[in-house]
Amino acid sequence: MKLVVLGGAGSQALYGIRNLISQGSIFDEVVISSRNIERNRKVIEELNSPIVKAAQVDVSDKKALYELIKDCDVVANCTGPYHLLAYDIIETTIEAGKDYIDFCDDIDAFYQIFNSDLPKRAEEKGLTMIMGLGASPGFLSVLGCSAHQRYFDSMDELIFYFATDEREPGGPAVLAHVLECIHNAPYIEDGELLTEPSFRREWEFDFGDSFGQRKVTRIGHPEVFTFPRYAPNVKNLSVRFSLEPLSAYEGFKKISLAGLTSEQELVVKGTKISPRDFILSVLVAQKSLKKQMTDEDLKKLFEEVTACAAVEIHGKKDGKDISYIGRVAGNMPPLTAVPLIVGAEMLGKKEIAKKGIMVVEEAIEDAPSFVNETLRRIREDGYIMRLNEEYTVRGDC
Ligand SMILES: NC(=O)c1ccc[n+]([C@@H]2O[C@H](COP(=O)([O-])OP(=O)(O)OC[C@H]3O[C@@H](n4cnc5c(N)ncnc54)[C@H](OP(=O)(O)O)[C@@H]3O)[C@@H](O)[C@H]2O)c1
Repeated sequence: MKLVVLGGAGSQALYGIRNLISQGSIFDEVVISSRNIERNRKVIEELNSPIVKAAQVDVSDKKALYELIKDCDVVANCTGPYHLLAYDIIETTIEAGKDYIDFCDDIDAFYQIFNSDLPKRAEEKGLTMIMGLGASPGFLSVLGCSAHQRYFDSMDELIFYFATDEREPGGPAVLAHVLECIHNAPYIEDGELLTEPSFRREWEFDFGDSFGQRKVTRIGHPEVFTFPRYAPNVKNLSVRFSLEPLSAYEGFKKISLAGLTSEQELVVKGTKISPRDFILSVLVAQKSLKKQMTDEDLKKLFEEVTACAAVEIHGKKDGKDISYIGRVAGNMPPLTAVPLIVGAEMLGKKEIAKKGIMVVEEAIEDAPSFVNETLRRIREDGYIMRLNEEYTVRGDC
């Protein structure tokens, strides 16, 4: 069975491929593809596994992409940014008649794809295509489904939280993604979809573990789109984030409050430029001055917690008010890529019966088992992966 991983040597995907090898997989051929064949070859040498091969394809070349995937069983799309690349990749995958999975975390990509005819075309072809199976959306959303299945009759409110250490790996695409996320933050309040830029309101949240209590603000993230497809009656839903250290959070706050995330072009000394493009260039230039992390540096970094996340749920069970908080602590790349690989294997084994394009919350039916399997696999690879769950009954209503 053959798996093609687009962007397979990327900062996140690689941790999934290592996991696939260490766990022994149903896939006996795994192709890592991107534009940079040298990087892919280097990665393959380091992985030292007979099942992994390298390919060089620019995913925006639809013909070349079709040729790459036409004889595989599952396509895993780990390229980004998704709002630029996902539509064409999904369309080509439908034309090739293959099952698909990604860890899309870009809300615009979800709107673009679900408002098109692609879901219908995928369903007509009998394909199973899962969007958003990473850390968040992904593992955290499934943890929310798992809490729902174990503890609740109904859910009224969900808040997703995440906080990352600014030393976590990520290139220009990640900085561009953060600027987009803090520009407009959709959220659901009393059943209505509203939007507000980040940092206009802030809260305190206790992430527990090593990140502890910290300021959070709303961020534009796909869970506002994905989770209601699983639980349409949730009245309040938002995603809140923070950064470690606090100075990084405060830096993005200043950028947001100064209007520097706007894409409205200004004429500066005769040249048209948007505040967003300007500030992105500044941030990329500042980042390039910092020392590049080696594999050894990354190994050392991941000896400590560099990402925390949580899902908070309020709802009812047997007429009583119930609250739940599930807190997760670990490192972003394994937490992003291992759920994707678990999902890819489920696709390979035809364990997901639904057809069409679906979000992760719709795809994974046995959420508690998925959570346990992901925890086990990340831990067995030697990464920190802690889960702490709190459940409170607040009396009769
Ligand atoms: N759901 C979640 O929890 C979650 C968490 C973290 C990240 N993400 C998302 O995951 C995506 C990847 O993140 P990352 O940190 O792994 O980024 P990254 O390190 O930049 O990896 C992206 C990969 O895609 C490849 N790629 C980019 N454009 C391509 C093209 N046109 N054709 C072929 N390959 C292409 C890159 O290789 P070349 O440049 O060599 O082509 C690279 O291998 C981002 O969009 C990010 O927002 C999701």
